[in-house]
Amino acid sequence: MKNWKPNSWRTKTGKHLPVYENEAKLNEVLKEISKFPPLVFAGESRTLKQILGDVSEGKAFLFQGGDCAESFEEFHPDNIRDLFKVILQVSLILTVSSHLPIVKIGRVAGQFSKPRSSSTEIINGKELPSYLGDNINGMKFDEQSRKPDPIRLLKSYSQSAATLNLLRAFSQGGFADLSKVHLWNMDFVNKSADKKFKEIQNKVMDALNFMHACGITIEQNRRLRTVNFYTSHEALHLPYEEAMTRVDSTTGEYHDTSAHFLWIGDRTRQIDGAHVEFCRGIKNPIGIKCGPSLDAKELIKLIEVLNPEDEAGRITLIARFGHDKVEKFLPKLIQAVKKSNKKVIWSCDPMHGNTIKSTTGFKTRPFKDIISEVKSFFDIHQGEGTYAGGLHIEMTGKNVTECIGGAQNITDKDLSSRYHTHCDPRLNANQAIELAFLISEEIKKNSKYSINSIRKAS
Ligand code: PEP
Ligand code: CO
Repeated sequence: MKNWKPNSWRTKTGKHLPVYENEAKLNEVLKEISKFPPLVFAGESRTLKQILGDVSEGKAFLFQGGDCAESFEEFHPDNIRDLFKVILQVSLILTVSSHLPIVKIGRVAGQFSKPRSSSTEIINGKELPSYLGDNINGMKFDEQSRKPDPIRLLKSYSQSAATLNLLRAFSQGGFADLSKVHLWNMDFVNKSADKKFKEIQNKVMDALNFMHACGITIEQNRRLRTVNFYTSHEALHLPYEEAMTRVDSTTGEYHDTSAHFLWIGDRTRQIDGAHVEFCRGIKNPIGIKCGPSLDAKELIKLIEVLNPEDEAGRITLIARFGHDKVEKFLPKLIQAVKKSNKKVIWSCDPMHGNTIKSTTGFKTRPFKDIISEVKSFFDIHQGEGTYAGGLHIEMTGKNVTECIGGAQNITDKDLSSRYHTHCDPRLNANQAIELAFLISEEIKKNSKYSINSIRKAS
């Protein structure tokens, strides 16, 4: 990598980077973090990149989901378990409809820093710096907690390590065993989604019994007992990401070991900016958020800078336009990428372009707009002859009331009852499962690979 070092981003302009009062303290903390064990291994990110390469060819589908922002307050094993359960459920629903392997990536174990639309917040006439995520400052509206504090980086590293440890145990230790599919149910899931999911459970159990009769048993097949689960977050806090970047001893390449997959936000994807500079040198798979302000030529340049060798699985384009803008902006980008022949994955984030203020004053997202953007995303790809390869959502396994609508019919008035998010409104478990069922048909049409098509092709 020419003229690149883990710290070369420091020579560029970086938006949304926190400013610390005590720089010496920050450097001390970063030095400490740079000696901590990596959270993920380079080999794991490489494997993920290979599987994402399959997604780019339409042979698999990507599902990425989790909190908008993880918090110290919501850190609890039950929350991690419930998020994992819903990701397993959604993935199973998508597998059954698409007949494709689902690549599972959590927005978890490191998703702390947030870019904010305004650098300050005013409450009752008092103005303070905005909340920037638990690894930078505190939510509480007072001067002290809104000051960036480097010590928070140590706490978020430790929370990420413990979260990842539990997720690894869940994925490999028996919880994800397909014959235990009934354990993934959530008590509060509404009746109709619950009934539909039970039908899927029965299908799975039938298939397992059939395979067992044919001599293919769960005991012999690790693939039926475990899942591969990967982590991701926005590569926003560059000093932290730099401290977590290490040389992979097997290849000599740099990897950011804070997560398997890192993405560049819609607000920090300037081609000559610090975030792009940092991401071009690390070998992890990289996401680029694509919003309405992204010009097609700029996107091609970005892809060239970040993936000069056109490696499959390296780039995931995460479209986040809004249900009313996706038809206007997405086709141009798809056409430009098609023309350039670059290998990318197209994923849909139907959350960030659909945020509104409720009549009761809460930031919310209407479920119907989320569904509408996902459906348009699939239709547009169908029309362009390209592959709609993924879904990226903000969600939780808890029964929160943050997004309006869905089968539970959450209204503006209900929002205050369980509004727990530290940043953007998330789909609750019900809504995430409902979304998976509602887009099943789209996914089925979209899927080009099934046993039949592979048979026909061979
Ligand atoms: C996010 O994914 O939390 C986010 C801030 O998204 P975007 O960069 O697309 O606004
Ligand atoms: Co968000």
